[in-house]
Amino acid sequence: MEIAQSLQQTPSSYIREILAAASDKNVISLAGGLPDEKTFPIDLMKPMLEQLSEMPHVFQYGETAGYGPLLAFLREYFQLPDSHMAMACTGSQQGLDLIARAYVNPGDKVVMEAPSYLGAMQVFGLVQANMLSVPQTETGPDLVALEECFVKHAPKMFYAVPDFHNPTGICWSLPTRKKVAELCIQYNVALIEDAPYRELRFTGDALPLVSDFCPQHSIVLRSFSKIASPGLRIGIVTGKRQYLEPLVKIKQGADLHSSVPMQALLLGLLEHQDFDQHIESIRVLYKSRYDVLYAELKAKLPDGCIVEGVDGGMFVWVTLPACDTFALAKSLLSNGVAVVPSPVFYADHSSTKSALRLNFTNAKPDDLKVAVTRLAKGLETQLSLQKDKVAAL
Ligand SMILES: Cc1ncc(COP(=O)(O)O)c(C=O)c1O
Repeated sequence: MEIAQSLQQTPSSYIREILAAASDKNVISLAGGLPDEKTFPIDLMKPMLEQLSEMPHVFQYGETAGYGPLLAFLREYFQLPDSHMAMACTGSQQGLDLIARAYVNPGDKVVMEAPSYLGAMQVFGLVQANMLSVPQTETGPDLVALEECFVKHAPKMFYAVPDFHNPTGICWSLPTRKKVAELCIQYNVALIEDAPYRELRFTGDALPLVSDFCPQHSIVLRSFSKIASPGLRIGIVTGKRQYLEPLVKIKQGADLHSSVPMQALLLGLLEHQDFDQHIESIRVLYKSRYDVLYAELKAKLPDGCIVEGVDGGMFVWVTLPACDTFALAKSLLSNGVAVVPSPVFYADHSSTKSALRLNFTNAKPDDLKVAVTRLAKGLETQLSLQKDKVAAL
């Protein structure tokens, strides 16, 4: 049977392939976006896990929009205005898929920063969106390019990860947040704000969501994968009722509803008095690992590499002198380090810059040190090979 055209155009995920190779225990993986499983708050889940055995109703079919008590709790937790609603999804990734399927026709224009989250490019690719890229700066999207793009192309939506971006770790500044919201209102572009790393801030104060400045023009995706556990597969979508009702309709056809016992478990966790303390302990742990990785990169990488500091999240982006980053990633893997090369994060390959995404949350400090030593050596070899090739031309 011939597969659908939309799928024929979707490349298989390079990250899935590299993660498979990185699961070898001799490989230090800085490739995935995995939280450290030792941080999973299983102790805090225990009271609710026990209670679940006395709650047969949660093992019944449930409401498509989500488990009522969880949604009622989240309305307060996220301080949603009356016009807004929350719905539970099977990971925030499903929320993104529902948005794409509800709103994007083949050829519709969707703007994102370059580079951008690979999973979003896959979702928008599957609905055959016309993906437009706007360059990213240290403070968020290039605002002049964004406005030009809105004026020239009249896109339907702007997909963005303003807090500790995947892959670059960048956190948008407050003026950028305000300006993007203003542009979305002015040009009638829906903002899709994806915020899975928002709680993982380890330096500085939290900034408002971009959607706080354009609540009637935005949909927000939240995830509990990074602060609780990805295996729960619970993400939350919030936005005004008119925006979310079509998503509920699509979800009904997709999977009827997300697991109710897992939603009840998440509610128990969010209501646990030690949950805030749990998040704080993750922040402290991840900051300590980030500090090691950052210091090692600064000390060991050859000249011409740029490492931007981050204030939270899970990733550091290392810009390299122009080189074949796929070849580099391949040779590093054979030397026991997994990293992700930059081209996979660009929808428009003509704007690709040589870089690597490095994750710091799922490797111990000693492993991070060894990984950077191998990375620096591999990079030097790759750059000198390239020089030799140019000299031989
Ligand atoms: C930017 C971004 N959005 C969404 C997701 C998916 O998260 P979830 O586990 O909630 O589906 C990820 C996962 O890494 C991500 O990095």
